[in-house]
Amino acid sequence: IGQVDDVQELQRQCSTTVPERYIRDGDDRPAAENADDVLVQERIPVIDVGELQRGGEDELHKLRLACEQWGFFQVVNHGVEKELMGEMEKVAREFFMLPLEEKEKYPMEVGGIQGYGHAFVFSEEQKLDWCNMLALGVEPAFIRRPNLWPTTPPNFSETLEKYSVQIRQLCVQLLDHIAETLQLPSGRFNAMFGEAVQAVRINFYPPCPRPDLVLGLSPHSDGSAVTVLQQDASFAGLQVLRRRDGETAWVGVRPAEGALVVNVGDTLEVLTNGRYKSVEHRAVASGERERMSVVTFYAPAYDVELGPLPEFVDGEGEPCRYRRYNHGEYSRHYVTSRLEGKKTLEFAK
Ligand code: SIN
Ligand code: FE2
Repeated sequence: IGQVDDVQELQRQCSTTVPERYIRDGDDRPAAENADDVLVQERIPVIDVGELQRGGEDELHKLRLACEQWGFFQVVNHGVEKELMGEMEKVAREFFMLPLEEKEKYPMEVGGIQGYGHAFVFSEEQKLDWCNMLALGVEPAFIRRPNLWPTTPPNFSETLEKYSVQIRQLCVQLLDHIAETLQLPSGRFNAMFGEAVQAVRINFYPPCPRPDLVLGLSPHSDGSAVTVLQQDASFAGLQVLRRRDGETAWVGVRPAEGALVVNVGDTLEVLTNGRYKSVEHRAVASGERERMSVVTFYAPAYDVELGPLPEFVDGEGEPCRYRRYNHGEYSRHYVTSRLEGKKTLEFAK
């Protein structure tokens, strides 16, 4: 399917137009008011992880509502050091600022998932996202492709390593608390996940001359159990689909100082038999500002067999909404499909 353009290079070359392949059809375009200075009337819930760790019942209740009503929330007092978050943002930005030839030393193969480039591109007709990506497998060690970890800036790998340890701790804690909100034993999810898979994707969105016509990232749900996202303070480029009373609306997530954004992925939807749902989200571009997000996906080991837990099927006459499948197969399916709403979850039906 040939080479996909580097969006930062495109942005340097074209000052007023964007190539056809980036221009979305009418309905898929971001609404005019979302294109730049987004009006954010609603906010996703903010959860205090320190309070959850202390056994705060009110906070646990908030977490349950956040999972049920939004599938998205921000976390504070999350245990990931502020300096480390700053350092992670710094090395990531330094990497994206390198000349193209440098970044191309870590190429993502077409249809591949690790390295620098564009994931999820499978056809010539497909619309492209206004985004450059660096994607890396982190844990367990066998998924790492060390030759794709940037050596410039020199402290990139060390920083990502430290950052990933703290994010992993947070993911484990969040899964414990999410289990508690469902009246499950706290360790229920973590125990079944085995040597959990952790992968990171750094998204860089340069400014776009026509932010009203493009998307930074196509609408999708995540294949993970939970995702933890760090965004820079630029603008509310991440939008979450809110479904309420039969209506849907894209709600911009305004970056909160020091907070991380967490969302429920497809895997939790399946395990809970749909009690908690993975929620579609997308990114929009800005006319003036660049934006970056550092996204960690946390999921079961590939050899784990998944399906709705008996706790959510038995007893109450609840039908089983998903089949049993192997998580590794689901992962392969996910990364070989284009981002398109919740379509990848059809695999589990
Ligand atoms: C993502 O969904 O992977 C990233 C969206 C964002 O950049 O905020
Ligand atoms: Fe996502």
